[in-house]
Parts: sequence; C-alpha cells; structure tokens
Amino acid sequence: MAFEPLLTRNVGRPGSEAIDAYLASGGYQGLKRVLREFTPEKFVEEVKSSGLRGRGGAGFSTGMKWGFLPKGREKPRYLCVNADESEPGTFKDRLLIEKDPHLVLEGIIASAYAIECNLAFFYIRGEFHQGHRIFQKAVAEAHARGYLGRNILGSGFGLDIIMYRGAGAYICGEETALLESLEGKRGYPRIKPPFPALVGLYGCPTIINNVETLANVTLIAERGAAWYAAIGRPPKNTGPKLFCLSGHVKRPGVYEAPLGVPFLELLNEQAGGMAHPSRPLKAAVPGGSSMKILPASKCDVLLDFDSLAAAGTSLGSAGGIVMDTGTCIVGALLNLARFYAHESCGQCTPCREGTGWLVQILVRLERGDGRMEDVGLLADIAGRIEGNTVCPFGEAIAWPVDSYVKEFREEFEEHARRKACPLRAAAGR
Ligand SMILES: Cc1cc2nc3c(=O)[nH]c(=O)nc-3n(C[C@H](O)[C@H](O)[C@H](O)COP(=O)(O)O)c2cc1C
Repeated sequence: MAFEPLLTRNVGRPGSEAIDAYLASGGYQGLKRVLREFTPEKFVEEVKSSGLRGRGGAGFSTGMKWGFLPKGREKPRYLCVNADESEPGTFKDRLLIEKDPHLVLEGIIASAYAIECNLAFFYIRGEFHQGHRIFQKAVAEAHARGYLGRNILGSGFGLDIIMYRGAGAYICGEETALLESLEGKRGYPRIKPPFPALVGLYGCPTIINNVETLANVTLIAERGAAWYAAIGRPPKNTGPKLFCLSGHVKRPGVYEAPLGVPFLELLNEQAGGMAHPSRPLKAAVPGGSSMKILPASKCDVLLDFDSLAAAGTSLGSAGGIVMDTGTCIVGALLNLARFYAHESCGQCTPCREGTGWLVQILVRLERGDGRMEDVGLLADIAGRIEGNTVCPFGEAIAWPVDSYVKEFREEFEEHARRKACPLRAAAGR
C-alpha cells in the first residue's frame, strides 16, 4: 500500500537528529501555528477531534485524557513523557528518540501548551544511553533557538524539560510506577483512582503520554485534525502508526503504515516475509509480548485497536513477534514467563508468586518432567493472577499464558505425554 511516511519522514536522512536538519524540513511550523492560532482549550479540542489514541499500549483517547485535568489552577500541572519502552519486541520509540528527537520535542511543547503545563519530565529507559544523549542535545538546541524556556517564540508561554533516566525496570513503564520512580521512590504502581490527571507527580495534576503519541501531536499541529482523522480506519482508529516486527522475519524492523494495515501485508511486503521459506508462519503476537497470541490461521487481521480486540488480542505497543513452525510454543512461553517473573515488582502476591510458579511448571514441561495436569494448572494460575493485581502487569503474563495454552493445548499436552519437547527430541537435543 502506497503511504507517505509521516512519523519516519526524516529517518534515514543524514544528521536527522540535529535542529538545523529538522528546521530545513519544515520543523517547528506546527508549533508556531498552534501558538498563533489556538488557545490551549481549542488545541485540546483539536487533538480530541483528530481521534488520536495513545500509542503506549492502552489506546485511550489523548484529547479526552487531557480533558480530565481539573479546571482549577491551585497546583502546577506536569507532563511526563513515557520513554521507558521495555516491552519485549517493542523498539519504535527508540527510533523516534534517536533519529528524530525534534519531532517528539515539538509534540511535547504543543501538548504542554494545550494542558497549560510549564514543566515536563522526559522519563527515559536507563539502557537508552544513546537516546538520552541525543535527546538531551535536542533539548539544549531547542532552548538555544527559543523553542523552550521562557516566552517561547514570543507567545508568553514557557516550558522547561527535565530529563530523568530510569534504572531499567519494566514496571516503571506503567504510568504510576513511573511517577513513583520519578519521585525517587521504588517503582511500585499506585492504586487508581485517583488517576494521575487529578493526583499525579508530587500530588499534582499530571498527564503521562507515550513518545509516539506526542510525535503524532506534532502532525496534528502541522496539518490539523481533519487531515489527521482521515488517515487509517476512521473514526476510531486514526493516524499513522509505527509497527515493530521481530522474530522469524526476513527484515526485522520498525515499519510505518496507517492504522488498519493488514498484518500479512506488513509481514510479507514490508518485512520481506518469513526468514526461512521452508518454515512458514506458525503464530504471531501482533501487539507485543504481553498480548494474546494468534495462530497462523487467525493472522489475517487488520492492525488497529478495534480489529485486534475483535480478533481476541490487542494492538498494545505494536511490538509484533513472528514465530515460524520451528518454534516450540512451550519454550517460547517459558522464555516470556522468565522475563515477567524477573520483572514482577513484587508488590502484589498473585503476580509475585504466580509468575515464579508459572516458570517452574513450564521448565518441567520443557525439560520432560511435566505432568498432564500441569497444562490446566498453567491456565488456572493465569486466571487467578488476572484482575487481582494493582496494575495490569498481572494481565501482561496472564494473557499470554491463557492464550498460548488455549491456542496450542495439543502441543503442551504432547510435552507432558511424551515427557519431552517434541521439537527438541526430533532434533536429537
Ligand atoms: C507493565 C506496564 C508497562 C508499561 N510500559 C510502558 C512503556 O514502556 N511505555 C509506554 O509509553 N507505556 C507503557 N505502559 C502504558 C502506560 O501505563 C500508559 O498507559 C501510557 O504511557 C500512556 O500514554 P499514552 O496515552 O500516550 O499511550 C505500560 C503499562 C504497563 C501496565
């Protein structure tokens, strides 16, 4: 499908991260338009009518979330940029941060103007050394040219940005754990309500938005809500989207397409198809490691929030993972469960204890010590984690376990029946 790249339009151009290159390609014109033509309230309405939904995982309407801020101005308001990106299979925000930081920065400034915030925090994953360096330089450049600081472009509006590096915990991508971490505390998610829009950072009204969401705000600032709302599958799945593809694909990477692009088109045309032609598609997780798996027979789906929900999974962070017929599903789930057991923050008992228990069971199934009742036990444990934790991290492991067992029950049972991993046994391992 022919599509004009919007979010990745500067990616691949030499020096794309520098402000001069950004300005030369028309950068910061959208911000100028917003400051000149919109009141903050009007720009909130503009983003609402664009249909933009958050790109961090939950897919909530960005403009509507901004609208939840209290009307009173007794306390300062904060904007926190979620640049934690730790979901396995997801590496799209990193691309924007490293290759086009000013596209993100312009969106941050326009968004801060809309929500009347004068201090934003950029919470970046600790391991993103290069991204941190590049973004910090972009912030300094924007300050030097009058796009940050006091009285931006003579508008009377001012904004400063504080860069904050996380310490590499997956849970700190969850918005309230992120706030705790920013406050210098252990990254334990908070009970909601109250939602951060009312009681957020330091007890003040706070908006948390994903990096890609904010880059989309730049596009809306440039060309308006009506233009934006016509991209993708309106009215509920609008705009361009970055899709990650990894696993057994010929060309793993980040691909831009309108929301609603067919998964098989992305896989076969953009990513070049399966890595080994002799090993066809077995299954895929279109949304990222914490979402439900689809067997190949169900992979003829459109990649947008509502189509994937109807197919029984979620768009999540669009971190697509592709598995070919050489993949042991039990082994793949064990790999995932180990990650989630390691990353569980330990605050809630079902998640802390349940994730470790899942690992034990999967280890014995994969090693050849499994029992037939283990298969039901996996689904049972997942069911007891789901809905019983403070934050959705519990679902992030319960959903994969539940769906892997449901879709590939035969394969789990075969492990128990044969007291071996069939694929490893066939390979003589
Ligand atoms: C365990 C967990 C990890 C998360 N990690 C991230 C992350 O790395 N980046 C991100 O933007 N959102 C992440 N989220 C979602 C955030 O809580 C939040 O919904 C998002 O930052 C809101 O931004 P958006 O509305 O622009 O999507 C995570 C959620 C959970 C439950």
